[in-house]
Amino acid sequence: MDSLDVKLWTLAAKGQIVPDRSLLKTPEQIQAIKKSADLNTAVLDHVAAHIQAGMSTADIDRLVYDYTTGHGGIPAPLGYEGFPKSVCTSVNDVICHGIPDENEILQEGDIINVDVSTILDGYYSDASRMFTIGKISERARKLVQVTRECVDLGLKAAKPWGHLGDIAWAINSHARKNGYSVVEEIGGHGIGLEFHEDPFVSYVTPKGSEMVLVPGMMFTIEPMINEGSPDFFIDEDNGWTVYTEDGGLSAQVEYMVLVTETGIDVLTR
Ligand code: MF3
Ligand code: CO
Repeated sequence: MDSLDVKLWTLAAKGQIVPDRSLLKTPEQIQAIKKSADLNTAVLDHVAAHIQAGMSTADIDRLVYDYTTGHGGIPAPLGYEGFPKSVCTSVNDVICHGIPDENEILQEGDIINVDVSTILDGYYSDASRMFTIGKISERARKLVQVTRECVDLGLKAAKPWGHLGDIAWAINSHARKNGYSVVEEIGGHGIGLEFHEDPFVSYVTPKGSEMVLVPGMMFTIEPMINEGSPDFFIDEDNGWTVYTEDGGLSAQVEYMVLVTETGIDVLTR
């Protein structure tokens, strides 16, 4: 038992939830995962440079596939539990897991989340951004802005030896203050050696609750913010696409972060 084991064991004995040592990345793993995250960011930058009205979401899928494979990576969603495409494209009232489609054409006024996940040399990365197409409504603009603020406030609330709930609390409070809701059953996840590792990261839990943030942990901050109710339904035909129950807009921003001894590193910016 080394001193970190003692510290984790002591916290666990006090009833705290602590990560298994296998969830704490080594310096070598961190280096390799950062390379994957850098490619993931470059893919998102590539999408940002080309996304426009008149393009289909299948065009975005091709941008992601070609750029990723052209740089030695593999799009992580492709074939993941049967997901048929290389990226998730979630337009307007789609909360997440939208499937790129030739017949879905981006129109002025749309808001879209593009969620890119990459495997490079066996290491996983994951991040998403909101894009706005042409002139959008004030209502859509505010939702996207508040969602970005939520994630930034979540990041500010995160500190080594704090708790995942601190992040959730900051996000949920800001969303609610603006009259919005946070989706409860779908959240973030550990990442790096696998696409989805422990812990599940909720964005509705109280301050000081959930897993302790131990240096070496890597996970996503990816709240889904709805302008109306947090309730949703899943497309029965494709089994993936998640829509708001009330038809209201939904936005999401996803960062992948590393807990260090001194703070929180965003690996995907
Ligand atoms: N960032 C999303 C997530 O973590 C990506 C899902 S890809 C899919 O759930 F293949 F599962 F759709
Ligand atoms: Co994710």
